[in-house]
Formats: sequence, C-alpha cells, structure tokens
Amino acid sequence: MGKAFELNGEKIALFKTEDGNIFAIENRCPHLGGELSQGILSGKNIFCPLHDLKICTKTGKSEESHCIKTYEIKIADNHVYLYKGEI
Ligand code: FES
Repeated sequence: MGKAFELNGEKIALFKTEDGNIFAIENRCPHLGGELSQGILSGKNIFCPLHDLKICTKTGKSEESHCIKTYEIKIADNHVYLYKGEI
C-alpha cells in the first residue's frame, strides 16, 4: 500500500518497493476513480483496489489504454523530490 497526499491540487500516491525504489503516480484510477494508493503493487504494476485494473507505474498505461500521470522522483539528503512530468 502506498502513501496518499495532495500537492497543488493534485492527488498523488507514493510507493516504495521491496528493493527500495520510490515512485509516484496519480492517485486516481482512470476507470471509476479508485484510490490507487490503496491498491496492490506487484512488480512494476499497481492493481486498482476497486475493480483490479492493472496499471503500469512506469508508463501510467493500463491494459485498456487508460492512462494516469506519473511523476519523476529524485532523492537527495533523505528528502523525496517530485517533478511533474508525463511519460
Ligand atoms: S475504479 Fe479502478 S478499476 Fe474500477
């Protein structure tokens, strides 16, 4: 499960994988708005907690061609910096 927060009006989900990688994605499923921070992370995919839509956390794309925003992450001095950008 990820951490949810809001930044400049955008809802964001932040995840840390077992191998220590951190990534951020839009915290809203493109299907019906499920909160992706509550989803299940498996490899590089997140599964929506409502209807199990599989979304790639690197590209933001789902199997059904829906798309969410992804964010570039930088870590420096024990801080996580988030850069807005779309892949
Ligand atoms: S709301 Fe995410 S799959 Fe339906």
